[in-house]
Amino acid sequence: MSMFNDIERVLVSEEEIRQRIATLAEQMNQIYSDDDPPILVCILKGAFMFLADLTRQLSFRHEVDFMEISSYGMGTTSSGVVRILLDLASSIEGRQVVIVEDIVDTGHTLSYILRNFATRKPASVRVATLLNKPSRREIDVPVDFVGFEIPNEFVMGYGLDFGEQYRNVPYIGVLKPEIYQGVDQS
Ligand code: PRP
Repeated sequence: MSMFNDIERVLVSEEEIRQRIATLAEQMNQIYSDDDPPILVCILKGAFMFLADLTRQLSFRHEVDFMEISSYGMGTTSSGVVRILLDLASSIEGRQVVIVEDIVDTGHTLSYILRNFATRKPASVRVATLLNKPSRREIDVPVDFVGFEIPNEFVMGYGLDFGEQYRNVPYIGVLKPEIYQGVDQS
């Protein structure tokens, strides 16, 4: 049975994602320049596809780096306790940084990253997220570039997984309830 049978509906289409990323890139192209090339930090795993499409729309020089964060929370609402699985390869001291996320949900992951980065003395830190779920927020975090504000639904695709599956789905979809019933989304 195809994994596409697990999807109830499309929430954000490929075309909507493409157009919105072009707009976000325009906003960034107004802010950054070759004079002070930023580092785009992709938060793995979910943001890999967003980074790949975003970086190709940017007209200024920039670097990319990667960080992977894991939440200790098991099956319940994000505990706010996180650990670094993969750290940056480069120093961000004195650099302009753009954190690239796929989704900001409770805000705990981003809050941790922002606090952690602050100790590394970057020149600036901004946040780009493809998806934002403000209704789930438990901690206030600044987000500079938002692709789409979405309702509290069980989304997957375009980098976002459920049980490590569906990341390759080229749009943001909503899973059928029978696929995730009994499992908390955190
Ligand atoms: C997701 C997402 C964010 C975080 C947001 O990552 O990529 O990093 O959760 O949730 P929060 O705002 O409630 O902290 P996840 O832990 O699912 O890892 P993954 O990207 O590797 O799938």
